[in-house]
Amino acid sequence: MSAASGPASVAGLLGEIADVGRDATRGGWSRFVYADAELTLREWFVEQAQRRSLEVETDRNGAIWAWRPGTGPGGGAGSPHAIVTGSHLDSVPGGGAFDGPLGVASALAAVDLLDARGVRTERPLAVVAFPEEEGARFGVACLGSRLLAGAIDPDRARGLRDADGRTFAEVAAGAGLDVDRIGPDPARLAGIDAFVELHVEQGRGLVDLGQPVAIGSSILGHGRWRFSVTGEGNHAGTTRMPDRRDPMVVAAGIVLAARDAAVAHAEARATVGRVVPVPGGTNVIASRVDLWLDARHPDDAVTAAVVAEIERQASRLAEAQGCAVTLTEESYGGTVSFDADLSGRLAQVLPEAPVLDTGAGHDAGVLAAAIPTAMLFTRNPTGVSHSPEEACEDGDAEAGAAALADVLERLLREPVGVS
Ligand code: GLV
Ligand code: MN
Ligand code: MN
Repeated sequence: MSAASGPASVAGLLGEIADVGRDATRGGWSRFVYADAELTLREWFVEQAQRRSLEVETDRNGAIWAWRPGTGPGGGAGSPHAIVTGSHLDSVPGGGAFDGPLGVASALAAVDLLDARGVRTERPLAVVAFPEEEGARFGVACLGSRLLAGAIDPDRARGLRDADGRTFAEVAAGAGLDVDRIGPDPARLAGIDAFVELHVEQGRGLVDLGQPVAIGSSILGHGRWRFSVTGEGNHAGTTRMPDRRDPMVVAAGIVLAARDAAVAHAEARATVGRVVPVPGGTNVIASRVDLWLDARHPDDAVTAAVVAEIERQASRLAEAQGCAVTLTEESYGGTVSFDADLSGRLAQVLPEAPVLDTGAGHDAGVLAAAIPTAMLFTRNPTGVSHSPEEACEDGDAEAGAAALADVLERLLREPVGVS
């Protein structure tokens, strides 16, 4: 946007990046942190921020912050009592166009709306784009916000490896980060009075209610675990069936055990979405199979029980096949309820908006442990997410940005000292 051109539309902003990271093999978009597509999106975001005369900085953990200074003394980048909005630019493999970028584009459009309304406040506003929200490259979801909030040991983060065996330290350094400095940033968090993340809805709640925008209430507790099953690599033709120690057979049993353990508990979800056989040949019995379990439930104890049951079944199956199995927790976050006071203020601004919970994880959920956070969801007519079928109609995207602008204006106008 420019003063002359007026507020940008969310659809127009997303249109500018629609071809970035299209995945011809998987379908949809693959935008992995610090790979070409995500780096292009980061450049796009910086350029959009500069067009709006926002002050851009990349923090020690690779999040990009675009500041609209407040009018108070020292009201520039990083000044206290900030209101922050934003989301992420990375995606799952073969994901949709809206999970993450909708929140960033809506935030930019909301800045334009505030400019057009002449809103100038003592409080500064920042738009943030977090890296590796999906954990699609290095395995830990919300890695950027976890580092910021001290929810992951920086040494562990530095050592995380992508599918090609490259460490986070190596990749992030290649993207210009000083990886010795990654880690908690309490001073930055102390300067933020509220974080509001807008996100495409990842279910059918708003479709069923006939509403364009909802206020988030909570995030389902969720975690990721890696099973590593080892057996004996061998020839698919010469190895008789009784002589095999095939880890893929165990992996298949673990997939079914996960489904069975989850259906035994109302509201539990368990998914195996990634299975990697080593070496991975059609005529080769694998020597090892790694598979990743994503399990979720509102109650931490139930999630633990579901995972324990799957582990029990995995051990039994491995023993029966002459294999060995190990289980490693890669990340976990318990159920998060967003800040009641902040969400209440959102409800005053948006009295028509229903209140919905979500089964999806978000940076807002990680930051909720440190600062007041809230979320807005924009209607998704398919109800599908983490898939190219994810959708958001142009009118709803604009309604979401307008709702975000209304909320930000209200929060920005709160006298400093009232958080
Ligand atoms: C992220 O979208 C997740 O819920 O895993
Ligand atoms: Mn996602
Ligand atoms: Mn997301």
